[in-house]
Amino acid sequence: MILDKIYNEDCLVGMKSISDESVDCVVSDVPYLLVGGGCSEGEYRTAKGHKQPSGIMNRQRSYTKIAGNEHGHTLADGTKHVNLGGCMNDAVEDVRAGKMFAHNDIKFSDWLPDVYRVLKPNTHCYLMINSRNLKDLQTEAEKVGFKFQNLLVWDKGNGTPNKFYMQCLEFILLLRKGGERWINDMGSKNILRTPNIIGDKLHPTQKPISLMRHMIENSTNRGDIVLDPFMGSGSTAIACVQSERHYIGYEIDPQYYEVAQNRLKNETRQLLLF
Ligand SMILES: C[S@@+](CC[C@H](N)C(=O)[O-])C[C@H]1O[C@@H](n2cnc3c(N)ncnc32)[C@H](O)[C@@H]1O
Repeated sequence: MILDKIYNEDCLVGMKSISDESVDCVVSDVPYLLVGGGCSEGEYRTAKGHKQPSGIMNRQRSYTKIAGNEHGHTLADGTKHVNLGGCMNDAVEDVRAGKMFAHNDIKFSDWLPDVYRVLKPNTHCYLMINSRNLKDLQTEAEKVGFKFQNLLVWDKGNGTPNKFYMQCLEFILLLRKGGERWINDMGSKNILRTPNIIGDKLHPTQKPISLMRHMIENSTNRGDIVLDPFMGSGSTAIACVQSERHYIGYEIDPQYYEVAQNRLKNETRQLLLF
């Protein structure tokens, strides 16, 4: 297994090459369906009768529209969306099917066994998830042997107005394999206040590097190996480079894989300049 590499392949295939108990931590923003079975909640229909999602799902439409024809668009919450390039052009059909992006119909029970297998004993696993899928993820994680350690909240500092309260936070399930492991900074709060990325996002769920670093640096030491099976635009990998940790990652979508590669090249160039 080559370290410090993102593999453009299905993690279900790729992770089979990782040896048992060889990874020091897993940090991942995992794929999930935004609404069960399509646009069941908050949906509305267009004049042509197509189902259309609301809230963040509707934002995704604006991404795709912009990627196709427009240069920018300001949403009701003041968020400015700009052209993301070709990545998002095909996404509108997936959004209609209740998906955030093309590849997110993998089940938790598909990948959790390998994630558990490759972790060393007494290590942490951070899984980022929304409120709706939290219960299922925890249940499936406990089935493969993980122990619940804590529930962290990411306060994003922004959100879209919503009739059932604004969605301005996400959850991070902190699990452990084996015995207890203490975090490095015991003064860390379980509310992580990091502003969300506004505007030039390279991936619809791109996460701030500082958020990823916080988790990585609390549960690993320099030179340790971090796995992210769902790299997207590569935020976990960049956080590892900045924190001097090794990483192994997978991204099935060739366009996001390219985005991640470009970001990593820039990161290495910047490191060389200092
Ligand atoms: C929630 S996004 C991660 C975004 C990332 N946190 C970022 O900052 O860009 C999940 C990613 O997992 C990828 N994915 C879904 N199924 C996959 C699979 N079986 N193997 C590898 N990647 C997969 C999707 O293409 C998507 O980019």
